[in-house]
Amino acid sequence: MPTVTGTTWTIVVAAGSGTRFGGATPKQFLEIARKRVVDWSVVAASTVSAGVVVVVPQRSTVKVSAHGLNCEVVSVTGGATRSESVRNGLAAVPADAEIVLVHDAARPVASPELFGRVVQGVQSGVDAVVPVVDVVDTVRDTQGNTLDRSMLQAVQTPQGFSAPILRHAHGTSGEATDDATLVQAVGGTVATVLGERWNIKVTEPDDAIVVAALLESR
Ligand code: CTP
Ligand code: MG
Repeated sequence: MPTVTGTTWTIVVAAGSGTRFGGATPKQFLEIARKRVVDWSVVAASTVSAGVVVVVPQRSTVKVSAHGLNCEVVSVTGGATRSESVRNGLAAVPADAEIVLVHDAARPVASPELFGRVVQGVQSGVDAVVPVVDVVDTVRDTQGNTLDRSMLQAVQTPQGFSAPILRHAHGTSGEATDDATLVQAVGGTVATVLGERWNIKVTEPDDAIVVAALLESR
């Protein structure tokens, strides 16, 4: 397989409304452990990126700056769905970027090491790389069947892609809760790397307590 060594850009999607979390300020703009959730995500992304595109809500006055970071930061407005927000971000990624990562702003605990593993995975020549962790609970489906846990993995972000394939996968108005699913749907190869157990997505209010405890020590 060919190796990819070109420039990496990361899209940090931060345009959701945080319905499950609730509150007046969308979760990704809350300050946790001295920084906003989105800023923790952008800082981690900056360690492997020439530039970061931050996708923010329409009519948002929130600013995300490159201050103190070793990379370019661009803001664009998002869409009605996560996939639309990624497409808006992708439109702002320079044409010469060869690797594009997509990261949920709401996962502020993802480490620079994890970002590095994902980039390395794409450099090895696969179309898409997703971090996964084992499922620790026994899982039942809504029909009452217990599923074989050894067959299941939970998928995280950052996910990494060869830029042309991600652009192709988003060329139509496809919808999925992650981007690897869209890449796979157009025939792309997807590889996994080890994710991080504590790379949780801030989804409900109690998640903020856990994330604060994890980030305070950094
Ligand atoms: N996101 C986005 N644009 C959307 C929807 C989601 O950029 N239209 C982003 C969120 O800001 C978040 C990530 O996608 O960083 C993962 O989404 P999720 O955790 O579901 O956040 P929300 O959609 O904001 O929350 P909820 O589903 O509870 O409304
Ligand atoms: Mg959502």
